[in-house]
Amino acid sequence: MDPQQIRQGIDGLGPWFYAHDFGNGLKTTPLIPPQVVGIHDTRLAMVEAAVAQQFGGRARGLDCIDIGCHEGFYSVAMARHGMNVTGLDAREENLERARFVADASGFPGIDFRKGRVETLAADEGRAYALTLFLGVLYHVEDPMLCLRQVAAVTGELCLIETQVVDEVEGFTEWGAQEWTRSYKGILALVDESGEFHAGNRETGVTPMATCPSPKALIFMLRQAGFARAEILTPPPGAYEQHARGKRVVCAAWK
Ligand SMILES: C[S@@+](CC[C@H](N)C(=O)[O-])C[C@H]1O[C@@H](n2cnc3c(N)ncnc32)[C@H](O)[C@@H]1O
Repeated sequence: MDPQQIRQGIDGLGPWFYAHDFGNGLKTTPLIPPQVVGIHDTRLAMVEAAVAQQFGGRARGLDCIDIGCHEGFYSVAMARHGMNVTGLDAREENLERARFVADASGFPGIDFRKGRVETLAADEGRAYALTLFLGVLYHVEDPMLCLRQVAAVTGELCLIETQVVDEVEGFTEWGAQEWTRSYKGILALVDESGEFHAGNRETGVTPMATCPSPKALIFMLRQAGFARAEILTPPPGAYEQHARGKRVVCAAWK
């Protein structure tokens, strides 16, 4: 793509969610407020660190799927490592932007297609060494269904980024006063109908969302079929929500 085509794409496809930088001063201005833009620096740094630790020099040529890829920000980042990247999203309007971003970034080979995480395993019918499930879990209404689907297509490592709710610890009676079970974390039910009906491009495919606590996230990942799952430590200077543990990046291994 020449600079004029990139400029036309930037102007014609906006507004943008991310700060995409195509070089030579060609960049998009994100819609999100300036104090939140840094969220992507932290997430990207954490994803990059986890990918480097897991794959090191063997990243080139590996298969990666970016589930809920939006404008392809993280898909392009993985393509920069030489991975074969598939970007999947429920919204065609996001995919249109993602295709432009990939082309303008010099990665026209990224395969962006429409799909839903809820039917991922049957739709894909194969595994990817790396699965990215960033910023999606807390927008879906059936998190276990989705995590089972994500686990089914993960060959080696899955990176999950999500908002989390405060932990709730305790026991519940379970059939009789003296019989109890411990909580393994909680799931909050969240009403996203305002954003959903306003046409927001970041919500799930239904107005109802769920948000796990950290312990629930780990428990669900294990139940979904991951051998091990761990919440990663944010780097110094991380975005304030990651620093306070209100959002987490979690690694889950098959
Ligand atoms: C909050 S954005 C996160 C985008 C990106 N992964 C990131 O972390 O910056 C959620 C994205 O997931 C997509 N999405 C929401 N629900 C989905 C579903 N059930 N299946 C596939 N994509 C979905 C949305 O269209 C949107 O692009």
